[in-house]
Amino acid sequence: MGPPGGGKGTQAARLAEALAIPTISTGAMLREAVAAQTPVGLDAKAYMDRGDYVPDEVMCQLVLNRIAEDDCVNGFILDGFPRTAEQAEALAGHGVVIDKVLYIDVPDEVIVGRIGGRRVCAKCGGTYHTKYTPPKIAGQCDECDGELIVRADDTPDTIRNRLEVYHKLTAPVLAYYNGVIVSADGNAPVEQITDVLLKALGKA
Ligand code: AP5
Repeated sequence: MGPPGGGKGTQAARLAEALAIPTISTGAMLREAVAAQTPVGLDAKAYMDRGDYVPDEVMCQLVLNRIAEDDCVNGFILDGFPRTAEQAEALAGHGVVIDKVLYIDVPDEVIVGRIGGRRVCAKCGGTYHTKYTPPKIAGQCDECDGELIVRADDTPDTIRNRLEVYHKLTAPVLAYYNGVIVSADGNAPVEQITDVLLKALGKA
């Protein structure tokens, strides 16, 4: 968990590789649905473009169905879910046990600079930053050679709203997980944060 642009996706991808379990990234799932113009994607697009949350019932259904798939049997990493009290309750209500909540702490003023420099691969969704984690060749994904683009919701107005919505709806959800929360300083270099999170999971 953590604010928009705080490094959740970056860390989730690194942890998934280190732990050999899947990442369930609700933002990525929604972006795929938007690109494929599925009914969920067509509905979600307007919320995402504004920086608002997609309704809980849609999100809970999406995540509970995904968790039920075979590759999740040995565990999974949730990235971007739960984000509301209702989503946290849906997980608990379906008997989903959360071992650890990894919270990446980044102040709002840092977020604005981070998101401004973010570039994502149009093909595989890989995430880069023009200054902090640049690709080897400018504009090209290291993994699949796909084109690096600016995300549709990375505009100044949308970023402001995403931060507001996060503080109002998601920050309070952390209280649900008292006792299993581990905080990492999101201002640290990417590799250092991964080490902190892996240690918290007893894997380093
Ligand atoms: P989502 O894609 O989850 O967006 P978000 O929460 O706003 O988070 P981001 O993906 O923007 O950032 P991140 O924390 O993953 O950071 P990243 O690793 O990319 O969701 C998008 C939208 O979908 C939502 O706004 C909402 O509409 C909808 N949605 C999704 N889930 C939902 C839910 N559960 N309920 C309702 N609606 C939902 O890093 C950011 C940048 O910083 C990158 O350029 C990266 O390279 C760089 N960086 C990362 N770590 C570091 C570091 N340590 N130092 C310097 N730079 C770094």
